[in-house]
Amino acid sequence: MSENVLVSVHNVTKSFSLAGTFKKKRHTAVNNVSLDILKGETLALVGESGCGKSTLARLIMRLTEPDSGEIIFDGTDITSLSGRALRPFRKRMQMVFQDPASSLDPRMKIRDIIAEPMEIWKICPDRRERAERIMELLEMVELKESALDKYPDQLSGGQRQRVGIARAISIDPELIICDESVSALDVSVQAQILNLLKRLKKKLGLSCLFISHDLSVVDFIADRVCVMLNGEICETAEPDILFTKPQHEYTRYLISSIPEIKAFINGGKNEYHQ
Ligand SMILES: Nc1ncnc2c1ncn2[C@@H]1O[C@H](COP(=O)(O)OP(=O)(O)OP(=O)(O)O)[C@@H](O)[C@H]1O
Ligand SMILES: [Mg+2]
Repeated sequence: MSENVLVSVHNVTKSFSLAGTFKKKRHTAVNNVSLDILKGETLALVGESGCGKSTLARLIMRLTEPDSGEIIFDGTDITSLSGRALRPFRKRMQMVFQDPASSLDPRMKIRDIIAEPMEIWKICPDRRERAERIMELLEMVELKESALDKYPDQLSGGQRQRVGIARAISIDPELIICDESVSALDVSVQAQILNLLKRLKKKLGLSCLFISHDLSVVDFIADRVCVMLNGEICETAEPDILFTKPQHEYTRYLISSIPEIKAFINGGKNEYHQ
Protein backbone atom coordinates (compact mmCIF):
# COMPACT_ATOMS: atom_id res chain seq x y z
CA MET A 1 0.00 0.00 0.00
CA SER A 2 1.23 3.47 -0.86
CA GLU A 3 2.68 5.44 2.06
CA ASN A 4 0.46 8.44 1.45
CA VAL A 5 -2.76 6.46 1.96
CA LEU A 6 -4.35 6.85 5.41
CA VAL A 7 -7.50 4.77 4.92
CA SER A 8 -8.06 2.13 2.32
CA VAL A 9 -11.48 0.59 1.84
CA HIS A 10 -11.46 -2.64 -0.19
CA ASN A 11 -14.61 -4.13 -1.67
CA VAL A 12 -16.71 -3.36 1.39
CA THR A 13 -20.34 -4.46 1.46
CA LYS A 14 -22.94 -3.86 4.14
CA SER A 15 -26.56 -4.94 4.02
CA PHE A 16 -29.44 -4.61 6.45
CA SER A 17 -32.46 -6.83 6.85
CA LEU A 18 -35.60 -5.04 5.81
CA ALA A 19 -38.02 -4.41 8.68
CA GLY A 20 -41.29 -6.33 8.46
CA THR A 21 -40.02 -8.78 5.88
CA PHE A 22 -38.62 -12.29 6.04
CA LYS A 23 -35.05 -12.41 7.27
CA LYS A 24 -33.73 -13.37 3.86
CA LYS A 25 -34.75 -10.09 2.26
CA ARG A 26 -31.98 -7.54 2.70
CA HIS A 27 -31.15 -4.06 1.50
CA THR A 28 -27.57 -3.51 0.40
CA ALA A 29 -26.67 -0.06 1.75
CA VAL A 30 -22.99 -0.21 0.68
CA ASN A 31 -22.17 -2.44 -2.26
CA ASN A 32 -18.62 -3.56 -2.96
CA VAL A 33 -17.11 -0.11 -2.35
CA SER A 34 -13.38 0.57 -2.67
CA LEU A 35 -11.74 3.92 -2.01
CA ASP A 36 -8.60 5.48 -0.56
CA ILE A 37 -8.38 8.53 1.69
CA LEU A 38 -4.93 10.03 1.29
CA LYS A 39 -2.96 11.66 4.10
CA GLY A 40 -3.83 15.34 4.31
CA GLU A 41 -6.62 15.21 1.73
CA THR A 42 -10.28 16.07 1.92
CA LEU A 43 -12.24 13.37 0.15
CA ALA A 44 -15.88 14.21 -0.38
CA LEU A 45 -18.64 11.67 -0.58
CA VAL A 46 -21.64 13.02 -2.40
CA GLY A 47 -24.95 11.48 -3.33
CA GLU A 48 -28.63 11.70 -2.56
CA SER A 49 -30.33 10.70 0.66
CA GLY A 50 -30.21 6.96 1.37
CA CYS A 51 -27.37 6.16 -1.06
CA GLY A 52 -25.20 4.81 1.79
CA LYS A 53 -22.90 7.73 2.73
CA SER A 54 -23.35 7.56 6.51
CA THR A 55 -23.21 3.76 6.47
CA LEU A 56 -19.86 3.93 4.69
CA ALA A 57 -18.64 6.46 7.28
CA ARG A 58 -19.74 4.18 10.11
CA LEU A 59 -17.96 1.27 8.47
CA ILE A 60 -14.71 3.26 8.25
CA MET A 61 -15.06 4.32 11.90
CA ARG A 62 -15.73 0.65 12.70
CA LEU A 63 -19.00 1.58 14.38
CA THR A 64 -20.65 -1.09 12.28
CA GLU A 65 -19.37 -4.40 10.88
CA PRO A 66 -19.05 -4.97 7.15
CA ASP A 67 -20.51 -8.16 5.66
CA SER A 68 -17.40 -8.48 3.54
CA GLY A 69 -14.37 -6.48 2.47
CA GLU A 70 -11.52 -4.85 4.35
CA ILE A 71 -10.81 -1.52 6.02
CA ILE A 72 -7.12 -0.69 6.31
CA PHE A 73 -6.08 2.23 8.54
CA ASP A 74 -2.51 3.44 8.09
CA GLY A 75 -1.38 0.00 6.95
CA THR A 76 -3.26 -2.02 9.60
CA ASP A 77 -6.28 -4.15 8.73
CA ILE A 78 -8.83 -3.01 11.31
CA THR A 79 -11.77 -4.94 9.81
CA SER A 80 -11.81 -7.65 12.43
CA LEU A 81 -10.31 -5.74 15.37
CA SER A 82 -12.50 -5.16 18.39
CA GLY A 83 -12.32 -3.96 21.98
CA ARG A 84 -8.82 -3.19 23.18
CA ALA A 85 -7.14 -3.77 19.83
CA LEU A 86 -9.47 -1.30 18.10
CA ARG A 87 -9.20 1.43 20.76
CA PRO A 88 -6.04 3.15 19.51
CA PHE A 89 -7.58 3.44 16.05
CA ARG A 90 -10.79 4.93 17.46
CA LYS A 91 -8.72 7.78 18.82
CA ARG A 92 -7.21 8.45 15.42
CA MET A 93 -10.62 9.04 13.76
CA GLN A 94 -13.17 11.54 14.98
CA MET A 95 -16.61 12.50 13.77
CA VAL A 96 -18.18 15.95 13.36
CA PHE A 97 -21.94 15.49 13.21
CA GLN A 98 -24.64 17.30 11.27
CA ASP A 99 -26.58 18.61 14.18
CA PRO A 100 -24.47 19.83 17.09
CA ALA A 101 -27.66 20.78 18.92
CA SER A 102 -28.45 17.11 19.41
CA SER A 103 -24.89 15.77 19.57
CA LEU A 104 -23.76 18.15 22.36
CA ASP A 105 -25.06 17.40 25.84
CA PRO A 106 -27.38 20.33 26.73
CA ARG A 107 -26.59 20.03 30.46
CA MET A 108 -22.86 20.42 30.04
CA LYS A 109 -20.94 23.69 29.80
CA ILE A 110 -18.89 24.24 26.64
CA ARG A 111 -15.67 23.99 28.70
CA ASP A 112 -16.59 20.45 29.80
CA ILE A 113 -17.87 19.45 26.37
CA ILE A 114 -14.54 20.37 24.79
CA ALA A 115 -12.59 18.69 27.61
CA GLU A 116 -14.56 15.44 27.60
CA PRO A 117 -12.66 13.58 24.83
CA MET A 118 -9.34 14.57 26.48
CA GLU A 119 -10.64 13.12 29.74
CA ILE A 120 -11.74 9.90 28.05
CA TRP A 121 -8.40 9.51 26.30
CA LYS A 122 -6.37 10.78 29.29
CA ILE A 123 -4.76 13.62 27.38
CA CYS A 124 -3.45 16.63 29.33
CA PRO A 125 -4.41 15.21 32.75
CA ASP A 126 -2.74 18.16 34.47
CA ARG A 127 -5.37 20.84 35.20
CA ARG A 128 -3.29 23.77 34.06
CA GLU A 129 -2.18 22.02 30.93
CA ARG A 130 -5.80 21.07 30.16
CA ALA A 131 -6.97 24.67 30.61
CA GLU A 132 -4.22 25.85 28.26
CA ARG A 133 -5.17 23.24 25.69
CA ILE A 134 -8.83 24.31 25.86
CA MET A 135 -7.79 27.92 25.21
CA GLU A 136 -5.67 26.81 22.28
CA LEU A 137 -8.60 24.85 20.82
CA LEU A 138 -10.94 27.82 21.30
CA GLU A 139 -8.53 29.97 19.37
CA MET A 140 -8.26 27.39 16.60
CA VAL A 141 -12.03 27.30 16.07
CA GLU A 142 -12.28 31.08 16.58
CA LEU A 143 -14.56 31.11 19.61
CA LYS A 144 -14.35 33.67 22.40
CA GLU A 145 -13.34 32.70 25.93
CA SER A 146 -16.78 33.80 27.13
CA ALA A 147 -18.27 30.75 25.33
CA LEU A 148 -16.67 28.41 27.87
CA ASP A 149 -19.19 28.99 30.65
CA LYS A 150 -22.21 28.81 28.39
CA TYR A 151 -24.47 25.88 27.57
CA PRO A 152 -25.01 24.67 23.98
CA ASP A 153 -28.44 26.32 23.68
CA GLN A 154 -26.88 29.71 24.48
CA LEU A 155 -24.79 29.51 21.31
CA SER A 156 -25.74 29.95 17.66
CA GLY A 157 -25.77 26.98 15.27
CA GLY A 158 -22.43 28.03 13.77
CA GLN A 159 -20.84 28.47 17.22
CA ARG A 160 -22.14 25.04 18.27
CA GLN A 161 -20.57 23.52 15.17
CA ARG A 162 -17.27 25.18 16.12
CA VAL A 163 -17.54 23.48 19.52
CA GLY A 164 -18.16 20.15 17.74
CA ILE A 165 -15.02 20.72 15.68
CA ALA A 166 -12.95 21.71 18.76
CA ARG A 167 -14.08 18.49 20.43
CA ALA A 168 -13.18 16.42 17.39
CA ILE A 169 -9.68 17.89 17.01
CA SER A 170 -8.95 18.01 20.77
CA ILE A 171 -7.33 14.56 20.77
CA ASP A 172 -5.24 15.11 17.62
CA PRO A 173 -6.96 12.70 15.27
CA GLU A 174 -5.52 11.99 11.84
CA LEU A 175 -8.94 11.63 10.17
CA ILE A 176 -12.08 13.61 10.78
CA ILE A 177 -15.35 12.54 9.25
CA CYS A 178 -17.78 15.38 8.70
CA ASP A 179 -21.23 13.92 8.06
CA GLU A 180 -23.40 16.70 6.64
CA SER A 181 -21.65 18.98 9.13
CA VAL A 182 -22.79 22.22 7.54
CA SER A 183 -26.13 21.12 6.06
CA ALA A 184 -28.23 22.49 8.91
CA LEU A 185 -26.59 25.95 8.78
CA ASP A 186 -27.47 29.10 6.80
CA VAL A 187 -25.41 29.56 3.65
CA SER A 188 -23.27 32.40 5.08
CA VAL A 189 -22.54 30.42 8.25
CA GLN A 190 -21.82 27.34 6.12
CA ALA A 191 -19.16 29.34 4.30
CA GLN A 192 -17.50 30.36 7.59
CA ILE A 193 -17.42 26.78 8.86
CA LEU A 194 -16.12 25.45 5.53
CA ASN A 195 -13.34 28.04 5.57
CA LEU A 196 -12.49 27.07 9.14
CA LEU A 197 -12.35 23.36 8.23
CA LYS A 198 -10.11 24.16 5.30
CA ARG A 199 -7.70 26.17 7.47
CA LEU A 200 -7.62 23.51 10.19
CA LYS A 201 -7.03 20.73 7.70
CA LYS A 202 -4.00 22.60 6.39
CA LYS A 203 -2.67 23.64 9.78
CA LEU A 204 -3.04 20.21 11.39
CA GLY A 205 -2.37 18.09 8.29
CA LEU A 206 -5.70 16.33 8.77
CA SER A 207 -7.36 13.94 6.39
CA CYS A 208 -11.06 14.54 6.07
CA LEU A 209 -13.95 12.49 4.74
CA PHE A 210 -16.53 15.13 3.98
CA ILE A 211 -20.05 13.85 3.42
CA SER A 212 -22.58 16.07 1.74
CA HIS A 213 -25.50 15.95 -0.64
CA ASP A 214 -24.59 19.47 -1.82
CA LEU A 215 -22.20 19.61 -4.77
CA SER A 216 -21.48 23.32 -4.40
CA VAL A 217 -20.19 22.73 -0.85
CA VAL A 218 -18.15 19.79 -2.08
CA ASP A 219 -16.66 21.86 -4.88
CA PHE A 220 -15.35 24.33 -2.34
CA ILE A 221 -13.85 21.95 0.17
CA ALA A 222 -12.81 18.73 -1.58
CA ASP A 223 -9.51 17.67 -3.10
CA ARG A 224 -11.29 14.69 -4.64
CA VAL A 225 -14.93 13.71 -4.88
CA CYS A 226 -16.56 10.27 -4.84
CA VAL A 227 -20.06 10.26 -6.27
CA MET A 228 -22.22 7.59 -4.66
CA LEU A 229 -25.34 6.07 -6.15
CA ASN A 230 -27.38 3.22 -4.65
CA GLY A 231 -24.56 2.03 -2.40
CA GLU A 232 -21.90 2.14 -5.10
CA ILE A 233 -19.28 4.68 -6.08
CA CYS A 234 -19.98 5.58 -9.68
CA GLU A 235 -17.28 8.20 -10.22
CA THR A 236 -14.21 9.65 -8.47
CA ALA A 237 -12.47 12.81 -9.66
CA GLU A 238 -11.04 16.14 -8.62
CA PRO A 239 -13.80 18.78 -8.43
CA ASP A 240 -12.60 20.77 -11.45
CA ILE A 241 -12.63 17.67 -13.61
CA LEU A 242 -15.86 16.37 -12.14
CA PHE A 243 -17.71 19.58 -12.89
CA THR A 244 -16.29 20.20 -16.33
CA LYS A 245 -16.06 16.62 -17.62
CA PRO A 246 -18.46 14.43 -15.63
CA GLN A 247 -18.18 10.84 -16.86
CA HIS A 248 -21.24 9.29 -15.27
CA GLU A 249 -24.82 10.09 -16.21
CA TYR A 250 -25.77 10.42 -12.54
CA THR A 251 -22.98 12.97 -11.93
CA ARG A 252 -24.30 14.99 -14.88
CA TYR A 253 -27.76 14.81 -13.38
CA LEU A 254 -26.49 16.00 -9.97
CA ILE A 255 -24.64 18.89 -11.56
CA SER A 256 -27.57 19.96 -13.71
CA SER A 257 -29.90 20.00 -10.71
CA ILE A 258 -27.80 22.45 -8.69
CA PRO A 259 -28.19 26.10 -9.67
CA GLU A 260 -25.02 27.34 -7.95
CA ILE A 261 -22.94 24.84 -9.86
CA LYS A 262 -24.53 25.88 -13.14
CA ALA A 263 -23.57 29.44 -12.32
CA PHE A 264 -20.06 28.30 -11.46
CA ILE A 265 -19.68 26.37 -14.72
CA ASN A 266 -21.01 29.37 -16.62
CA GLY A 267 -18.23 31.48 -15.16
CA GLY A 268 -20.30 32.81 -12.29
CA LYS A 269 -18.78 33.13 -8.83
CA ASN A 270 -19.34 30.36 -6.36
CA GLU A 271 -20.48 32.03 -3.17
CA TYR A 272 -18.09 30.09 -0.94
CA HIS A 273 -15.02 31.40 -2.72
CA GLN A 274 -13.65 34.41 -0.91
N1 LIG B 1 -29.15 0.45 11.05
C1 LIG B 1 -29.84 0.31 9.92
N2 LIG B 1 -30.81 -0.63 9.80
C2 LIG B 1 -31.50 -0.79 8.66
N3 LIG B 1 -31.30 -0.05 7.54
C3 LIG B 1 -30.37 0.90 7.59
C4 LIG B 1 -29.58 1.14 8.77
N4 LIG B 1 -28.71 2.17 8.53
C5 LIG B 1 -28.94 2.54 7.25
N5 LIG B 1 -29.93 1.79 6.69
C6 LIG B 1 -30.42 1.92 5.33
O1 LIG B 1 -29.31 1.94 4.45
C7 LIG B 1 -29.49 2.87 3.40
C8 LIG B 1 -28.38 3.88 3.40
O2 LIG B 1 -28.51 4.71 4.56
P1 LIG B 1 -27.48 5.86 4.92
O3 LIG B 1 -27.93 6.45 6.21
O4 LIG B 1 -26.12 5.32 4.85
O5 LIG B 1 -27.73 6.87 3.72
P2 LIG B 1 -27.17 8.38 3.54
O6 LIG B 1 -26.59 8.43 2.17
O7 LIG B 1 -26.30 8.73 4.67
O8 LIG B 1 -28.51 9.22 3.56
P3 LIG B 1 -28.74 10.74 4.10
O9 LIG B 1 -28.17 11.66 3.05
O10 LIG B 1 -30.22 10.85 4.20
O11 LIG B 1 -28.04 10.87 5.43
C9 LIG B 1 -30.89 3.48 3.61
O12 LIG B 1 -31.81 2.78 2.81
C10 LIG B 1 -31.14 3.23 5.07
O13 LIG B 1 -32.51 3.11 5.32
MG1 LIG C 1 -26.40 10.19 6.15
